[in-house]
Amino acid sequence: MKRHRRQDPPGTLRWRARIRRAGMGRTASALLAVVATAAACSAPAPATTTGRQVEVFTWWASGAEKLAMDVLVQRFRAEHPDVGYVDAAVAGGAGTVAKGVLAARFADGDPPDTFQVHGGAELTAQVSAGHVRPLSSLFDQVGLEDVLPPVVLDSVSVHGVPYAVPVDVHRTNLLWANTDVLAQAGLDPTARYDSLDSWMAALDQVRAAGLTPLAIGSTWTQVHLLEVVLLSRLGPTTYAGLWDGTADATSPEVKAAVEDFARIMQDTNADRDSLDWQDATGRVNEGRAAFVVMGDWAQEVFDPPVVWAPFPGTADVDDITVDAFAAPVGAVHPTGADAWLSTVAGLDTQVAFANAKGAIPARNDALQTSLGDYPRSALRTFRTATVVPSLAHGMAAPPQAVDDITRAVSSLARGTASTAQVVAALAGAAWR
Ligand code: GAL
Repeated sequence: MKRHRRQDPPGTLRWRARIRRAGMGRTASALLAVVATAAACSAPAPATTTGRQVEVFTWWASGAEKLAMDVLVQRFRAEHPDVGYVDAAVAGGAGTVAKGVLAARFADGDPPDTFQVHGGAELTAQVSAGHVRPLSSLFDQVGLEDVLPPVVLDSVSVHGVPYAVPVDVHRTNLLWANTDVLAQAGLDPTARYDSLDSWMAALDQVRAAGLTPLAIGSTWTQVHLLEVVLLSRLGPTTYAGLWDGTADATSPEVKAAVEDFARIMQDTNADRDSLDWQDATGRVNEGRAAFVVMGDWAQEVFDPPVVWAPFPGTADVDDITVDAFAAPVGAVHPTGADAWLSTVAGLDTQVAFANAKGAIPARNDALQTSLGDYPRSALRTFRTATVVPSLAHGMAAPPQAVDDITRAVSSLARGTASTAQVVAALAGAAWR
């Protein structure tokens, strides 16, 4: 496992030294400026001399995610001082709350000027609903098609037409462990778990020691766990086949993987539904649980002795989600939205954002030397691993199917549904 580097509070001398040591000189000034302007970024729309503005809808509303969002805002303000920024963020990991608010706003004919969306199936659903406009001319102006990896370009396009500007790519199949808790349970803190079986044996041992094996939060984090268990057991081809219809979701191996998921859920904290991802990761940080499964956006919240590794059995796979911004049809400030999208598409903006967020830039033309330690290693993984789309994070299956799977998983966790209901929900998810 890789030992996680301590994250000193932004702005402190140690934090600055860490940024210098990590060779992040180009982005350090952006981050320092972020800290200085963080308060201003959250302020209501400033008056502009032009009256131009943009209302930006995201779920990056607090903690490290908000700091990363502030990187975007600070760069936007510098590039477009004549356009007022209106923060319409709605808190809640993975956008579970935000997506409901967004749907209501579309239903009311009151869409924001631009909104955060996952590429793949989630964006495709918005296109099919007629909610978003094509961004072909913006892509042409910026030359974006030439600098996006094909898998990223594909995720933001429908029938070859781009509908969203991608800003980053996250890896979701990571396992975080508190090595002190592992030692307390009599496990080798330096052990790697190359298979689901060896990891499940470790969970048993933590439980036998009277400790919580796996921290988990509300239902989207449970679907996230299901996703990596499926990936580990089925491998990337069959996992991806669940979403394009080439794999049988009712096969014995899928059923067995869902049984494994159900067994692992028994090793999690009972108060899961009251926790968001920051609370679940906090349990591991505080030594109250041994493991947590979470994407690489969590790296900013962990301290030693927490370490990370690819989820067991998925070392050669990059289970990704693409964060992007789309522009609604009928929004009040389309030119403000275009200004926002052109900032988000910029190389320097994406590099600064990736370094703050623990992601890689969506663009593939970033210099390795401009990236911090983690994004640099994540970029290597992205370029060499087998890439598959995340289920819990919108890429793999349409929102309706994700909702059905989420409901089945939630009922299973509460003991009111069987694994067969989860399998049935998975069987309805193929869409490509
Ligand atoms: C994901 C998103 C990430 C991060 C995470 C937790 O869906 O792609 O950028 O925000 O949720 O909120």
